[in-house]
Amino acid sequence: MERGESQSSVDPSGDAGEVADWADAFDVNREWWREAVVYQIYPRSFFDSDGDGIGDLRGVEAKLDYLDALGVDVVWLNPVYDSPNADNGYDIRDYRAIMAEFGTMDDFDRLLDGLHDRDIRLIMDLVVNHTSDEHEWFRQARESEDSEYRDFYIWREGRGDGPGGKGKPPNNWESAFGGSAWSYDERTEAYYLHLFDEKQPDLNWRNPEVRERIYDMMRWWLDKGIDGFRMDVIDLISKADGLPDGDPDSGWTGAEHFMTGPRAHEYVAEMYEEVLEGRDVMTVGEMPGASIEQAQQYLGPDGDGLNMVFHFEHVTLDYGESGDRWTVGEFSLPEFKRVLSKWQNGLHGEGWNSVYLGNHDWPRMLSRFGDDGLYRIESAKMLATMLFTLRGTPYVYQGDEIGMTNFPFERESQVQDVSARNFVQRKREEGWETDEILEIVSYRSRDNARTPMQWDDSENAGFTEGEPWIPVNPNHDAVNVADARARDDSIWHYYRELIEFRQATPAAIYGDYELLLPDDPDVYAYLRTLDDDRLLTVLNFDEGTPTFSLPGSVDYDDAECVVHNYAIDAEGPQSFEMRPYEARVYELD
Ligand code: NOJ
Repeated sequence: MERGESQSSVDPSGDAGEVADWADAFDVNREWWREAVVYQIYPRSFFDSDGDGIGDLRGVEAKLDYLDALGVDVVWLNPVYDSPNADNGYDIRDYRAIMAEFGTMDDFDRLLDGLHDRDIRLIMDLVVNHTSDEHEWFRQARESEDSEYRDFYIWREGRGDGPGGKGKPPNNWESAFGGSAWSYDERTEAYYLHLFDEKQPDLNWRNPEVRERIYDMMRWWLDKGIDGFRMDVIDLISKADGLPDGDPDSGWTGAEHFMTGPRAHEYVAEMYEEVLEGRDVMTVGEMPGASIEQAQQYLGPDGDGLNMVFHFEHVTLDYGESGDRWTVGEFSLPEFKRVLSKWQNGLHGEGWNSVYLGNHDWPRMLSRFGDDGLYRIESAKMLATMLFTLRGTPYVYQGDEIGMTNFPFERESQVQDVSARNFVQRKREEGWETDEILEIVSYRSRDNARTPMQWDDSENAGFTEGEPWIPVNPNHDAVNVADARARDDSIWHYYRELIEFRQATPAAIYGDYELLLPDDPDVYAYLRTLDDDRLLTVLNFDEGTPTFSLPGSVDYDDAECVVHNYAIDAEGPQSFEMRPYEARVYELD
């Protein structure tokens, strides 16, 4: 038995699945997407059904009972549309077709039915800030200035001496993946804008025809029966008038001119009216730059109509001073608590939070916020306890439920992601040593989260019979689903029980949030209160043994520990020494 696998417990205070009965007793604004737990699937790395080394839709279908057993309510599927894969599907060639490597539209329809048969809803990625340069619109647009699709994209003359200003881009904006955000196109002698890879030209949202085409496509998918969208970088769709130069010292040059640009709210509100209004769907806007005030405007009772956002504030706290992903700064728990609490309280009554610590764009949450070595199991359970007891909809990224960790990179050839490869290239040109480069890649690369799902301890972790498109983490011999499901006290069962716990505990979903001990450097503690129901969560983010003391302002007659990742005695929450990465949730009376 592994350490930490024997004494944890979650004790749901009611029967799972009985949400409908309990919540009506409270005066809360009930919505299914507030009560749901979302499971994110990166299909390329989930399960390969045909041995080509690439995960696919039939692979997801084969694992539906797995998702059902875990107890999740919604699946978010990363892009599965036809794509040349410059950015693993975030470069869409045809919005209404399935990527051949992933299967067919029939496979998709079967998957959707299979999910619905199990009462699991499906939200799809909506990638409409940009298309692929192989999309028919762009192919035509780049043919001629007179093309009817020319104005679907953003073209400008450069500032250089060559034809069409070749030699110096129209402004100093940077691509999120490094280098200029502009590429010069020889045929029509002009630059086009791409905030991501050069194969991802930005759509021109000022053009009403573009917006109408997008809305039409969205209606088409919703009419098919999907249950909503995760909207890729949706706060970037409006660019400032005149496309002025940006501050070169900010983390992403130009961002102040395209993060929630002048017409962003107008476009999202229009999308809501044209597509979403009156449909019982879930929407989550990915918003790298959103402030809390902006989020309130995108959400909120009279806002632009989205249900929740992914803000980036808590996942960028450990960036270095330049504010760039590829720099490494310090992680401070008080700062982390301050940011999360600001969002917990700031969206109260003005929207709803999404609660996440990682996804396909970040390193593994366990390696980043927990301990992927000695305390892997304890810290995975501790982080899960946080995800399921904050106010907001929790997102589980595939593999986190078994405590998957970052990949031990040894060679540059193991780096797959376009963003990381560009970083490697830049640093090589600057003369960095391989070791230095790999150290940052190991800490930061999105590849860390994209290694294949670890189903069992066989050669390719049971992910594929073929050659996996990205290396499998060698720790799959110990970290895998088969093993985790066979042990009652594993991370996997802890997740399953926490999901039940949340579904059965009104205060965990709808309770008010109050931060305790804001300055404690190791312990994150908070209260959730719904009428007379109170939950106290206490989390040790450190490998040390700090003492937790409940502030005198919190009084109670009785306390029962309903969630814990270590064995506990009858000790109450008044004051106790915490064990490394310990988590406890008490019900207070
Ligand atoms: C955010 C997505 O999550 C990421 O994977 C992608 O590279 C960019 N948007 C561009 O679409």
